[in-house]
Amino acid sequence: MFTRTTIITIMLLTAIIAAGYIATSNPSDAQQPGTGQRATFMRLKLQPVKDILEAIALEDFDRITASAERIHLLSLDESWMVIQTDEYRRQSDEFRRSVAVMSKAAKDKNIDGATLGYMQMTLNCVRCHRQLRIPEQ
Ligand code: HEC
Repeated sequence: MFTRTTIITIMLLTAIIAAGYIATSNPSDAQQPGTGQRATFMRLKLQPVKDILEAIALEDFDRITASAERIHLLSLDESWMVIQTDEYRRQSDEFRRSVAVMSKAAKDKNIDGATLGYMQMTLNCVRCHRQLRIPEQ
């Protein structure tokens, strides 16, 4: 069993690592972050993710489930499938699996399970972004 402080510390660290990765990646890219339709859609992911972090810290299971559902729906949107490769599809499937793990744990009122699902999902964010950038390195 994790203590609540441990959980919050771990979550904050993963959130900071993920955010830092997104913020510092490919500075030479022609497209500025936060511009363009694709970026606007992709940024929609952030709000429910932040919501879940807060809901996990407060053990608000209904809110975890509701935000997980929002993320799941975004991941099914055609704007999500901007890249038509097997690898991108695979990363998207893994991402949805983590969201499902988190959602299921929240429904079972299992806070440790939801926290692990959240961390797994955060890793999936970083992994997908990383593989997108491989051709640019
Ligand atoms: C299956 C792949 C995939 C996963 C998983 C994924 N993303 Fe993304 N993300 C993308 C793509 C594609 C872009 C757009 C990159 C571009 O346009 O250069 C992007 C861009 C972003 C951006 C930058 C938008 C901008 O301003 O340029 C943010 C923020 C972001 N994602 C957050 C997240 C978060 C948070 C998660 C995890 C909860 C996540 N993403 C998971 C594929 C993914």
